[in-house]
Amino acid sequence: MAGVLGGLPDSVLQFAYLIASVLFIQGLRDMTHPRTATRGNGISALGMFIAVAVTVLWFEILSPLVLAAALLVGGGIGAWLAVTVETTEMPQLVGLFNGFGGGASALVAGAELVDLTATGSGLPVGVTATAAIAGIIGSVTFWGSLVAAGKLHGLVGDSPVSSNVGHVIKAVCLVAALAGGVALVVQPGFAGGDLVPSYWFLIVAASILGIFLVVPIGGADMPVVIALLNSYSGLAAATTGFVLNNTVLIVAGTLVGASGLILTVIMCESMNRSLTNVLFGGLGGDDEMADRPDIYEGNISETSPEEVEMLLDVADRVVIVPGYGMAVAQAQHAVAELAELLEEDGVDVEFGIHPVAGRMPGHMNALLAEADVPYDKMRELEEVNPTFSQTDVVIVTGANDVVNPMANTDDSSPIAGMPVLNVGEARSVVVNKRSLSPGFSGIPNPLFAEDNTSMLFGDAKASMQELVNVYKENR
Ligand code: TAP
Repeated sequence: MAGVLGGLPDSVLQFAYLIASVLFIQGLRDMTHPRTATRGNGISALGMFIAVAVTVLWFEILSPLVLAAALLVGGGIGAWLAVTVETTEMPQLVGLFNGFGGGASALVAGAELVDLTATGSGLPVGVTATAAIAGIIGSVTFWGSLVAAGKLHGLVGDSPVSSNVGHVIKAVCLVAALAGGVALVVQPGFAGGDLVPSYWFLIVAASILGIFLVVPIGGADMPVVIALLNSYSGLAAATTGFVLNNTVLIVAGTLVGASGLILTVIMCESMNRSLTNVLFGGLGGDDEMADRPDIYEGNISETSPEEVEMLLDVADRVVIVPGYGMAVAQAQHAVAELAELLEEDGVDVEFGIHPVAGRMPGHMNALLAEADVPYDKMRELEEVNPTFSQTDVVIVTGANDVVNPMANTDDSSPIAGMPVLNVGEARSVVVNKRSLSPGFSGIPNPLFAEDNTSMLFGDAKASMQELVNVYKENR
């Protein structure tokens, strides 16, 4: 059925889709740098608005009233989530969004099959084959993302599990889903009926597969899994675009699929791990390594905000290295205030940002930007590493693995080969965390026992705030 714009030549629709696609590409390009990322988000959102608006005005998919109600409810929930969700909860929110994208693709492809069957238009192989692919990938994405988000939110157990029963279930579900797909292509639906049973069969098999694919993976690896599922959601959308013969959906889905895959690869490379290792290997030092007392015994020197203030008092250059603990403690504002005070007193201050510090790409950049730290103060690993030898004080706050020298010195460590910030080359290193507990990888950190390292034990926000207060008192 034609909508309000449906009477116009088809070239107008395609031109609008072309504009939306160009905006998506420009938006993605801008998102590659923190400085232009906000603009990129806006440009992509504009592209999506054009794509959705033109589509709903062109085709009368639903009555305008139902459509307006759906947009109001969906937009309202989106706005509410954007305002209320904490930055530390972003990975699971992104996971949920991916899941909904995958689920929507599976449902839309199924609805198109039902529609074509009901109107007696026939089900060409091109439609059934792409619908089968969209259904399988979309269902895996939906259920896999729900489990991933549940693990990150602490609703589902997050320890890695490996069981032969699980592998058998996965294999059976995969074969069943593929068989459903073949059946759909070979003999779509009951003759003359309005059901496409093989499609719903493959949806059920792929849903169970999605759950069993993600359940065994440890919670700590969920960010990588979410990036991969993001890529899957794009693939599902692109194949649904083929089902509907909708160019803008194909372009948008392909862009999401490709960028999600690139992001997954970057995350794996930054951790020096293969995707297979993330999906099937699990990460974590053994307990024996985690509390090897010989590394720390008698070698830990504890410091206080007053002593750190004295170090800062005579420093010309200070580098602050944030990590996951800064995000947990929400210490970014205190950290930013400290940097500002030091700068006001003529100290050269920069932030050393590791690509996988925290639990999601750009985690530290986003938090520091929220605290108004200028982007030109945030230095990437390759830029900041050569400067540590000319740095007076490095303050490591809530970071652990990303500054662990074992990555360079111990080939048997789980983080061997991972590029790290060589903070130990600075004159003095202050490490602020609550205890000597290991980080994400579960291994000890010899940096804490170095002669030029002192430990400022405490919650990152409280410690940084105290340091700011002491610094202000002694100015
Ligand atoms: P981690 O190595 O996980 O260390 C974080 C440290 O923060 C912990 O040792 C913890 O020590 C401390 N901490 C926790 N809460 C704190 C608080 N309230 N105040 C102060 N300290 C607190 O973090 P990292 O150095 O940022 O490294 C990130 C790790 O995550 C890497 O191994 C990386 O491979 C992995 N990873 C990252 C990503 C992305 S994309 N960023 C994705 C997957 C995996 P205490 O308990 O002693 O305080």
